[in-house]
Amino acid sequence: MSASTDWGSNFAAAGVDAMTAYDEILVPRVFDPFADVLLDEVGVSPGLEVLDIACGPGTVARRVAQRLGPEGRVTACDLSPAMLEVAAAKPAQDTAAPITYRQCPADELDVPDGAFDLVLCQQGLQFFPDRLGALAEMRRVLKPGGRAGVAVWCAIEECPFWDALASAVGDVLGKDAEIGFRSGPWGLPEADELARLFDTADFGDVSVIRRVLPAVFEGGPAQLVSTLPAASVGPQIVALDADGRSALLAAAEAALAPFKYDGELHSEAATHIVLAAR
Ligand SMILES: C[S@@+](CC[C@H](N)C(=O)[O-])C[C@H]1O[C@@H](n2cnc3c(N)ncnc32)[C@H](O)[C@@H]1O
Repeated sequence: MSASTDWGSNFAAAGVDAMTAYDEILVPRVFDPFADVLLDEVGVSPGLEVLDIACGPGTVARRVAQRLGPEGRVTACDLSPAMLEVAAAKPAQDTAAPITYRQCPADELDVPDGAFDLVLCQQGLQFFPDRLGALAEMRRVLKPGGRAGVAVWCAIEECPFWDALASAVGDVLGKDAEIGFRSGPWGLPEADELARLFDTADFGDVSVIRRVLPAVFEGGPAQLVSTLPAASVGPQIVALDADGRSALLAAAEAALAPFKYDGELHSEAATHIVLAAR
């Protein structure tokens, strides 16, 4: 089983608690701000029909729905029942496009051909076991001339909190766990490779841009550690006893010390965004 599949498997199997930690801690501090950058770059006009692939707890889906207004429509898909449960439990948004959630894998989308003006995918492609299959699906469901906007993290060294957290995971859970952790979200870091995938999948007008945003975890290392149940190492983290949890926290405190100011962690994260058209 590959490392990126480990992340995918944990997303698919994890419970609502793990995904709630993702939603409450990582989404407002990292994924919401990056979703706004993705939507700014791809350009969204009111009334479009939009698909959000690997929607997680509805991060991009809910934000694009606000930009589309009531005349638009959003369909949002994910593999993880727990992520979809968290998403579907959120309150409806006034004056936003309605959102329909579907459980399906990215390489077998449960939506019709040629139905969407815009397909979005934030931090999902790197996890898909069949990336070209998923891109073929993305292209299949777009209307002719429809556009895609896909965000994929740059190298883990350009997302320094997680580089440090990976080292802490390695100290406590061993090298294999560290390698698995590093190669999931940050496992597709080259802009050239991204462009080649989209070219091979027969997309046109392919461009890859890089965007960097600040990231702050005001709760310090413990706040970041509390998101690990949603990671590839989730089952091992959940199984740690009190000594193991203390060791992990101590390792994270040490690894993240360079980013700590008055108890808060301050750094940045970098993503690539692929813009393409059918
Ligand atoms: C890092 S989260 C990103 C979620 C969301 N796009 C966001 O911005 O918050 C990655 C998501 O990819 C989903 N995922 C992983 N493998 C998948 C697959 N093969 N098909 C569909 N979704 C998948 C996970 O369940 C998870 O919700």
